[in-house]
Amino acid sequence: MYTANAEGQRKPVTIASLVEMKQRGQKISCLTVYDYSFTVALDQAGVDVMLVGDSLGMVMQGRETTLPVTMEEIIYHCRCVASARPAGLLMADMPFMSHGTVADALHNAGRLMKEGGARIVKLEGTGEQAEVVTQLAGAGIPVCAHLGLRPQAVHKVGGYRVQGRDESSARAMVEDARVLEHAGADMLLLECVPVALAAEIARGTQLPVIGIGAGPDCDGQILVLQDMLGLTPGKIPRFAKNFMPEGGSIHGALQAYVKAVADGTFPASEHCF
Ligand code: KIV
Repeated sequence: MYTANAEGQRKPVTIASLVEMKQRGQKISCLTVYDYSFTVALDQAGVDVMLVGDSLGMVMQGRETTLPVTMEEIIYHCRCVASARPAGLLMADMPFMSHGTVADALHNAGRLMKEGGARIVKLEGTGEQAEVVTQLAGAGIPVCAHLGLRPQAVHKVGGYRVQGRDESSARAMVEDARVLEHAGADMLLLECVPVALAAEIARGTQLPVIGIGAGPDCDGQILVLQDMLGLTPGKIPRFAKNFMPEGGSIHGALQAYVKAVADGTFPASEHCF
């Protein structure tokens, strides 16, 4: 969404404006970002939500998984992004084991907001995180609940696999979404979920649902910045697309992505499960 105020500047994106976009059927564009310069570029392209994801462990630090990423590292990158004062909504990931108890969740989410400048936190979890979400909501901390493939659970799940393929796990995910909405979540994020299941979840909630590998019926899309700029070495995940060939430059690729999300041409069937 690229709406300007009277001075021609972008209006800040808020959770309420994302809900309005969902209600209007206007798609939400989201990308990960970890530093000041790229945040300026994303904001100029009109990206709605900027996620300081724990994917930074892989794309910034070259680690094999997101598990080693610390609170200090997320806060550091969050500050770099916040210093660009983006109009896009700044979301920060809660790292692995930072929200296992309500006390830890409140302390760590509070740090992301106070020290990092985040406006919403994202946590990976199922309906079992309902009490944590309720307490965060009660403390005035907006929450995006990340369902489906949860990379922080890679060793428990046994790999980066599409989730919700069989009927019982699909029903469990629908129930998790319902429980987390009821608990006070403000947004949902679905990773690697079959198209029909993601569509059912998006239809069944008032909350904006952002997808990555979750098909075109989510209310918005997110990609890892390095994947969509063609910077990831080797093969990119099936759900990702390199926008550099059609964009021709970093700014062109960002604009092509925002446009493709807005007009529904991304994701195409080859990016879906
Ligand atoms: O950490 C991250 O970048 C994420 C996205 C893949 C959604 O969680």
